Amino acid sequence: MATNPFLLAVSTMIVLVAGSSQSLARLQPGKGELVEGTTQPVARFYAPYWQPSDAVASFALKKPLNKSTELPSDYPIKPMFEKVDGKHRVRIEVAPGTSLYGTGEVSGPLLRNGRTTTLWNTDAYGYDPTNASLYQSHPWIFGVRPDGTAFGILADTTWRTVIDLNGAITITAEGNAFPLYIVDRATPQEVCTALMELTGPMPLPPRWAIGYHQCRYSYYPEARVREIANEFRTRRIPCDVIWFDIDYMDGYRVFTFDKNSFPDVPKLNADLGKMGFSNIWMIDPGVKYEKGYFVSDQMVEKGYDVKNAKGETFVGAVWPGNCIFPDYTSEKVRGWWAGLYKDFMATGIDGVWNDMNEPAVFAVASKTMPEDNQHRGGTYSSGPGIQPQIVTPGPHARFHNVYGMLMAQGTYEGIMTTNPTKRPFVLTRAGYLGSHRYAATWTGDNSASWFDLETSIPMAINLGLSGQPFAGPDIGGFNGNGPGNFESRGKHFARWMGVGALLPFSRGHTGKGNIDKEPWAFGPEVEKACRLALERRYRLLPYFYTLFREASVKGLPVVRPVFFADPKDMALRSEDDCFLIGSDVLVVPQLMPDGTRTPVLPRGVWRKVEIVNENNHPDLPELRIREGAIVPLGPIVQYHDEKPLDPLTLLVSLDTRGQATGTLYEDAGDGFEYQKGQYLLTTWQAKQEGDKVTVSISKAEGQMARPSRKVVVQVLRDDGKIAEASGEAGQPIVVQVR
Ligand code: GLC
Repeated sequence: MATNPFLLAVSTMIVLVAGSSQSLARLQPGKGELVEGTTQPVARFYAPYWQPSDAVASFALKKPLNKSTELPSDYPIKPMFEKVDGKHRVRIEVAPGTSLYGTGEVSGPLLRNGRTTTLWNTDAYGYDPTNASLYQSHPWIFGVRPDGTAFGILADTTWRTVIDLNGAITITAEGNAFPLYIVDRATPQEVCTALMELTGPMPLPPRWAIGYHQCRYSYYPEARVREIANEFRTRRIPCDVIWFDIDYMDGYRVFTFDKNSFPDVPKLNADLGKMGFSNIWMIDPGVKYEKGYFVSDQMVEKGYDVKNAKGETFVGAVWPGNCIFPDYTSEKVRGWWAGLYKDFMATGIDGVWNDMNEPAVFAVASKTMPEDNQHRGGTYSSGPGIQPQIVTPGPHARFHNVYGMLMAQGTYEGIMTTNPTKRPFVLTRAGYLGSHRYAATWTGDNSASWFDLETSIPMAINLGLSGQPFAGPDIGGFNGNGPGNFESRGKHFARWMGVGALLPFSRGHTGKGNIDKEPWAFGPEVEKACRLALERRYRLLPYFYTLFREASVKGLPVVRPVFFADPKDMALRSEDDCFLIGSDVLVVPQLMPDGTRTPVLPRGVWRKVEIVNENNHPDLPELRIREGAIVPLGPIVQYHDEKPLDPLTLLVSLDTRGQATGTLYEDAGDGFEYQKGQYLLTTWQAKQEGDKVTVSISKAEGQMARPSRKVVVQVLRDDGKIAEASGEAGQPIVVQVR
């Protein structure tokens, strides 16, 4: 899915010339200042007409930022403000050739120049690029100039916002005037880190959550769940998590279980645990409005429900019929919601799936609650130790885009309080800039089409460039059975598994009534492709885990656009079939059902590698390793902690100087001991002298004891062969390469 960046640069100039009309004459420069609390300067701008009464709590920022100094007069980015029809508009000119990304969860190509996105969280079943709004709102634009320098623009508003990237960047928001934050950096990578400094880091997930997940709407009764679990293990297809969609509930009442289908949830969870499976259960925000149902009764009694414009309980239809909705804008309501997880988690639940939290409401044209519904507000703190901000009461229009994030935060905090020694895992469908602080996400109800397979890659990348590194699609597609007949559907599924197994959140899922979509559902050939795809993910798990840790400390996405390898190379700017895992592994998928497209690859030597006897499997993406990289690999396992990381394989791709380096992060995989130093961050370096390559530890950090294990070094040679040697952990290993 490529768009020509040069054509876009030309169209940018045309629009700029044509755009100097009267409306632009009203544009005024903003009031700028620099703010404290970041390692490099962050500028903040206000509209010239901004009043202190416009100030509201920020849900995007990790914490409010104080002014540090005046803005230097030569600050290169000059936003212009105007008020049009009661809306607030900011316009930022961009130099020709500037590539624009981000804007959160968007369908279609990676490069966003020329596109318009409306930030308004929407239940967008079966969406395509014509949908202006999907499930999440990230008021954030990521720009890369022709010289590779980069900038980011954050509009700190929760109101409905239109981001128009035709020519210039134009942001138009309803509600109160908002502050604009701008970061200007030497590289795209530094912009990612700046965004993390502004919005806070993603907490390190439990390691099981980066394995493969199997879901469908819905696996029930219990016998079916056990059957799925057994199939994975007997067929030796790696999998870490089994999911429970809404049919586990008693009449879709959240925090209840259908006793007929699931008579003994603690035993089921424990038995799955013995087989190496974690479990995740769904909780929606719509609470069945029913006397005698404890969640509904508590909410009504405490008055914690969202009210309509008249101040009465708002009632809207979702899965259980008429529902009432918790008002998560209040810390009291979030606290109550968090408390509901105590008994729920006590059944041995490992993770929670928050869905329908845009919030989705059935049978109304808007698909959500009325914009004049009332929220009570209260206080908001993004996490422990952060000074709470006052949240004034307001209409749903102001809180709509943060409703899902605040629900996920309540969920996260509830799980954390219940199981304080474990890392919470929450998946949320709706989100806002900052949701990564509480939850991973998936791209909602996509379709089982070739197009949606293709677009799942740029969607995950743009979410990563918008601060949400833990994202992925429903592998196979949620809506529909897939293209053509059984055979072509199988091919499509295998290709999607090949790609989806390499994205940060990796879960197969499909809608109710659809054909089976488990890895074995399409017969032995597709099953084999899926097994290889998932074996790859598990061999790469040490590398993925290292990248999740990097995301949690540096804000770098887990999967990255190929232009990250060479930000000055304009030819890479719109390449979005290929992607990078971290900086060292290049994924080159074949996305077309037949025929080929030649992707644009970054310059330099990227050595092709096979890690699970792929034997050039046509449905699996090619994997290539950057010259100068060492990539850590584990053995094939059926779930993340089936066996210790032994042997550890170090895959070495030397640069032209005969050198390479690479890093591995290890810890207990769950819990918080790593925050007290119980981890190991090891950097290896490889050096060639004559026909020998020596690999040794160049740096080690952390107090965890180095596990005694075998280390296998594999050096990728230019003839495609591998030179190998092994040794003890901690000792230099010498490989004869010729
Ligand atoms: C929504 C979700 C989907 C889920 C279904 C039933 O459509 O997006 O993933 O399976 O609801 O809960």
